[in-house]
Amino acid sequence: MEGARRREPTARGAAGERSAIGPKLPGQARPAPWADIPDRRLVEACRAARRDKTLAVLEGFHPLKHALRFGADVHVVLTRDLEHLQQLCDMLAPDVWPAIRAQARVVEPDLFARLAPRPPDTGVLAVAARRVVSAHALLTASRKAPLVLLEEPTHLGNMGAVVRVAAAAGAAGVVTTGRHDPWGPDALRGGAGLQFAVPVARAEGLDRWHGPLLAVHPDGEMLTPGGVPDDAVLAFGSERRGLSWELLARADGRIAIPMEPGVSSLNLATSVAVVLYTWRLAR
Ligand SMILES: C[S@@+](CC[C@H](N)C(=O)[O-])C[C@H]1O[C@@H](n2cnc3c(N)ncnc32)[C@H](O)[C@@H]1O
Repeated sequence: MEGARRREPTARGAAGERSAIGPKLPGQARPAPWADIPDRRLVEACRAARRDKTLAVLEGFHPLKHALRFGADVHVVLTRDLEHLQQLCDMLAPDVWPAIRAQARVVEPDLFARLAPRPPDTGVLAVAARRVVSAHALLTASRKAPLVLLEEPTHLGNMGAVVRVAAAAGAAGVVTTGRHDPWGPDALRGGAGLQFAVPVARAEGLDRWHGPLLAVHPDGEMLTPGGVPDDAVLAFGSERRGLSWELLARADGRIAIPMEPGVSSLNLATSVAVVLYTWRLAR
């Protein structure tokens, strides 16, 4: 499959700005509509979608629900059981049923089981256009809520959990460095599709930024209510190695989360949650 349909993005950062979310990419070809792909080509089409950096593969009900709520351009909803899907909507999110119904394509359970490495228990998988977000624009724009910077995170579920809490707490966005894709299927699963609710982008490195760069590090000033500036870039280290010396040297300050003696560190997503909610509750 080549290229992807895109729509004018609607997501906004917590600052209410749209500058980091760009228009559609120039020269993109429209893909063949999913309705035209025969069943025998669906496994291959889903594999190609997982590799396509313009597409978001939404595995499971919650990522699809949030993608729709936050205005994603969903190309197809593949399900092994439409009645079960309607029941899930009735129970959890009746607001998204009309959009799901409009894009739903029912496939045999045997075929559905081959559409993803870990087929979702909820029996639904969808493909949507990703939001185009510029990491550089996110980092350099003025902002009224902190921006989360993850330095080389390694666990895709953790990256997703960070996106989820950033969306909930009203952060300005999430920027990641390193090779892992914060829009990949596993990160979308961990983020419950909230990549569509808050700007999320991968940066090649840290070049320029706006606002104080605060390293969140156990060896720092204790976190206090009111101690997190609205325009901060909050940097968190990777799960195993923590923050690099380079980043620590460039930071304007360090924030530590208090812990009981003997506890070496909090989980990455947990520490993002603590700092963002400390900021939010003191607003
Ligand atoms: C799982 S921890 C990394 C642990 C790593 N072994 C280390 O030595 O830094 C991932 C990130 O969460 C943040 N973190 C975890 N616990 C923290 C604490 N008590 N205070 C400040 N930051 C913390 C830091 O940004 C850290 O780099």
